[in-house]
Amino acid sequence: MAKYTLLKQEGTARRGQFETVHGTIQTPAFMNVGTAAAIKGGVSSYDLVDLKCQVELCNTYHLHLRPGDDLIHELGGLYKFMGWRGPILTDSGGFQVFSLAQLRTIKEEGVTFNSHIDGKRIFMGPEQSMQIQSHLASTIAMAFDECIENPATREYTRQSIDRTTRWLVRCQKEMNRLNSLESTINRDQLLFGINQGSTFHDLRIEHMKQIADLGLDGYAIGGLAVGDTAEEMYGVIEAIEPHMPADKIRYLMGVGTPVNIIEAVYRGVDLFDCVMPSRNARHGHLFTWSGIRNILNEKYARDDAPLDDQCGCPCCQRHSRAYLRHLFKAGEILGMRLAVQHNLYFYNTLMEKIREALDAGRFEQFRAQMLPILGRRV
Ligand code: GUN
Ligand code: ZN
Repeated sequence: MAKYTLLKQEGTARRGQFETVHGTIQTPAFMNVGTAAAIKGGVSSYDLVDLKCQVELCNTYHLHLRPGDDLIHELGGLYKFMGWRGPILTDSGGFQVFSLAQLRTIKEEGVTFNSHIDGKRIFMGPEQSMQIQSHLASTIAMAFDECIENPATREYTRQSIDRTTRWLVRCQKEMNRLNSLESTINRDQLLFGINQGSTFHDLRIEHMKQIADLGLDGYAIGGLAVGDTAEEMYGVIEAIEPHMPADKIRYLMGVGTPVNIIEAVYRGVDLFDCVMPSRNARHGHLFTWSGIRNILNEKYARDDAPLDDQCGCPCCQRHSRAYLRHLFKAGEILGMRLAVQHNLYFYNTLMEKIREALDAGRFEQFRAQMLPILGRRV
């Protein structure tokens, strides 16, 4: 059983730690996204240690399709398979079934869809998602949910959240059964529930109350940054925060920019994940302590300064903007690798700075100082 400990609070912002069988996570924390058991851009599990990564996130849907969760189970679970020696969170496939899969039909039992890889017809419901995640043997499994795209109608949202709650009860039951089996690799696997309800505050609160009663190991907020504005997202977090169990870790799924993260920590969130640092890096968009830079810009052609003189990442320690730009222009894979390393180091350092500010009781000042800088383009 995992334990969340609240170490310090400033307003609604929380500094805490989450103890798991695979190590303790200092929160607020950012989970580095390795969807298919790999960080895109050629960053290895070995590199992640130097990049101050605390948790890696993988995906149920992708790993079920390829190479197959049976194969990963046979080889000892994701830990042994990918060589990462810290906590791993697996997303349930709920989101991908709705965003990637084709020809999908939703029923009470679950979702039938065609694989985006080879078109194969696949069924996934709460039990299948738990079985796959148990095979993967992650530290934390996510509940199988429906991520409702925004905008959505009130009627659709109403019936969808009720089904997501029924699915959650089935997830919990199946997880308990799997954790009791001798053949299960990680019998301490944790389960987080996911709050949905689109942008309807009353439905969000109602759903949060339903799932809070189930006594899960953590609570996630899903269905945000999917067509809604940042202001709508902050509004939803503020509405449900008082109804989230204070003694459980809180995770905002798929969010976001450095500014979004600071604003969500300010509103009481502990855990984040997003493809943004790795995806943007692969396109030459780099986060720095003076703002966002596009390394492909002509003005960097003869610039021998490091990308960010305040950064301690492998790229900034050794290389210039001109060199990084050259690598991108020449299509060298090293360019992407260095850029992804920089952006992940930046995100993990941002979380470290947030924790330090909370520890020192000066998060409010940190937020006021950082918000105007981190969102600007330089
Ligand atoms: N990732 C981002 N948003 C969501 C969500 O609503 N549900 C799940 N399962 N994953 C997500
Ligand atoms: Zn750097």
